[in-house]
Amino acid sequence: MSDNLLFAEEISENTPKDQLGKHKPWKVAVVDDEEQVHSVTKLVLRNFAFDGRGLELLHVYSAKEAIQLFRDQDDIAICLLDVVMETDSAGLDVVSQIRDDLHNSYTRIVLRTGQPGQAPEENVIKNYDINDYKDKTELTNLKLHTLVYSCLRAYRDIISLNQTRKGLEQVIHASNNVFHHRFTGEFSKGILLQFSSLMQFDDHAVYAVEDGFTAHSDKCGLKIIEGIGKYSHSLGEYLENILPKDILQKLKEQDTPFMSIHSDSCFLASNITDNKESQRNVLYLKKLGEPSTLQKKLLDVFSNNVLTAFQNLYLLEDIEKAQREMVYLLAEAVESRSKETGFHLQRVAELSLLLAGGLGLDKDLKLKIYRSSPLHDLGKIAISDNILNKPDKLTAEEFEIMKTHSQIGHDMILKSERELCQTGRIIALEHHERWDGTGYPNGKKGEEISIEGRIVAVADVFDALSCKRCYKDAWQLDDVFTYMKENSASQFDPQVIETLTTLEADIRKIYDQYRD
Ligand code: C2E
Ligand code: SIN
Ligand code: SIN
Ligand code: SIN
Ligand code: FE
Ligand code: FE
Repeated sequence: MSDNLLFAEEISENTPKDQLGKHKPWKVAVVDDEEQVHSVTKLVLRNFAFDGRGLELLHVYSAKEAIQLFRDQDDIAICLLDVVMETDSAGLDVVSQIRDDLHNSYTRIVLRTGQPGQAPEENVIKNYDINDYKDKTELTNLKLHTLVYSCLRAYRDIISLNQTRKGLEQVIHASNNVFHHRFTGEFSKGILLQFSSLMQFDDHAVYAVEDGFTAHSDKCGLKIIEGIGKYSHSLGEYLENILPKDILQKLKEQDTPFMSIHSDSCFLASNITDNKESQRNVLYLKKLGEPSTLQKKLLDVFSNNVLTAFQNLYLLEDIEKAQREMVYLLAEAVESRSKETGFHLQRVAELSLLLAGGLGLDKDLKLKIYRSSPLHDLGKIAISDNILNKPDKLTAEEFEIMKTHSQIGHDMILKSERELCQTGRIIALEHHERWDGTGYPNGKKGEEISIEGRIVAVADVFDALSCKRCYKDAWQLDDVFTYMKENSASQFDPQVIETLTTLEADIRKIYDQYRD
C-alpha cells in the first residue's frame, strides 16, 4: 500500500454501466507455467464484473516473474497461483515473498495445482498465508466465478476498513497540525494545506485542493481570508460576488451551527456561532470527482473541527484587540495629563518594533513589545501636576518623586495575567535602567535588564529628545542620533544603538509620518 491516504471506493453494486469506464478494473494475477491455464482463465472470466468494475488479468509464467510483478504493483486483488513451476514449490516461495517480504496482506491468494498430491492442502494452508486452495480441474466456469466474487468481496472490505482507519488517523493528524497555528491568517493557510494532504487519493483527486478558500464574516458579509490557486488573489472579496446563487441561498437558510454542502461543483462547510451571522466561518474547495460516502463524512468531521477552532481564534483576536485598545486608552489618558500630546506613544511603539526586528527577536516577542510599550510611563499618573508639568528643571527632590513612576507603573499592572500586561510591567519597571548600572529604580546593569526594557529605553529617550517637552525644546534628529551614539554602552545597550544606527533611514520615515 502506498503511504498516501486512500479512501474506500464505495461504489454501489448497481453502478450504472456508463460509469464503468471511470473505475479501475480489479487486478487479478494469473501465475502459471502452462499457457493453456492462462487462456482458459481468460475465456472463463471474460465479461466478468464486480461492483461495476471489470477485471484486468496480469499474466506471468514463473515464480520469478510473479515476485517482480508484486514488487511493482501493490494493488493486485487476487493471485491465482500455480504451485509447481521452476521448482516443486515455486508457488509457495511466491506466497512467502508476498506476505513476509513485501508485507502485502491484502491480496487474496488462491493456490491452483494440477497435482493435488504435490502439496497437501492442510499443511499448506496452515504454514502459508493463503486464502484458498483449488485443484485446477475444479475450476469450471461457475466455480471460478464464485471464487473470484468471494475473493473480490473480501479484498474490497479489507481495503475499505483499512482506508477508513487511515482516513480517520489522517483527520486527527490534520486537525492537530492546524491547531498549532495561532493567528487566523496562518491558520487559514494551515487548513487549506492540511486539506491537500487529506485529499491525496489513490488515483484521482476528488477535490481540487489547488482551488479553495476560507472566509469569515464582517459587517458587510462573508469575506475571503485566505485563498489558494484561483482564489489566491481574491483576499478581501465577498462571497456574494463569487459563489453561485443556489449555494448562497443555502448559506442563508443555514439553521444549524454546522452545515456542509457537497454539490456537483464544490465542497463548502460553514459554521455559525450563537446563530449570529457576524460569527460565521466558511471553507470552500472546488470539486473534481465524485466523493464516496466515507470521504464526505471525513470531510465533514475535519471541517467542523477546524471551523470551530477557527472561530475560537477569532474570539481570541477580538479579546486581544480589545486589550490593545485598552492599553492605548489608558496610556493616552496618562500622556494627556503631561500635555505631551501628539504621536509620542505611536512613535515609541514603532521605534521599539523596528529595533526589535533589527535585533532579530522572534515575531511573538516583537509584537508584545510593540503592543505593550505604550505602558512605559503609566506610573506618571501618580505624579502631581506641579512636578509633571513643571516648565523648568526639576529639583533633586522633585526628580526623586518623578523617578517613582517606574515602580508605580509596574505595580499598577502587577496583578494582571494578560500577556500584554506582563510585558508592559517589565517595560514600565525597566525603561529608565541604564546599561552601566546607574539607572533607576533598581540600578540593574547590562543584560540583567530585560531586552524589552533595553529596547524601550532607547526608543523613549530618542523620542523625548526629538520632540518638545514642557521643560525642553525639540532637538534636530541629527543631534538625537549623535547623543544616542555618544551614550552607547554607558546609558544604552551598545547592540541596540548599533541597530538604531543601521535603521536610520527607516527611523527618519517614522518621524515624517508621525509629525506632531
Ligand atoms: P520624559 O520627558 O519622557 O523623558 C524620558 C527620558 O528622556 C528622560 O528620562 C531622559 O533620559 C531623556 N531626556 C529627556 N529630555 C532630555 C534632555 O533634555 N537631555 C537629556 N540628556 N536627556 C533627556 P529621565 O531623565 O529619567 O526623566 C524621566 C521623566 O522625568 C521625563 O520623562 C520627564 O517627565 C521628567 N523630567 C526629567 N527632567 C525633567 C525636567 O527638567 N523638568 C520636568 N518638568 N520634568 C523632567
Ligand atoms: C499527530 O501526529 O497527530 C500530531 C502531530 C503534529 O501535529 O504534527
Ligand atoms: C489573553 O490572555 O487574553 C491574551 C493575552 C495576549 O496575548 O495579550
Ligand atoms: C515582573 O514583575 O513582571 C518582573 C519584572 C522584572 O523583570 O523585574
Ligand atoms: Fe519614563
Ligand atoms: Fe515616555
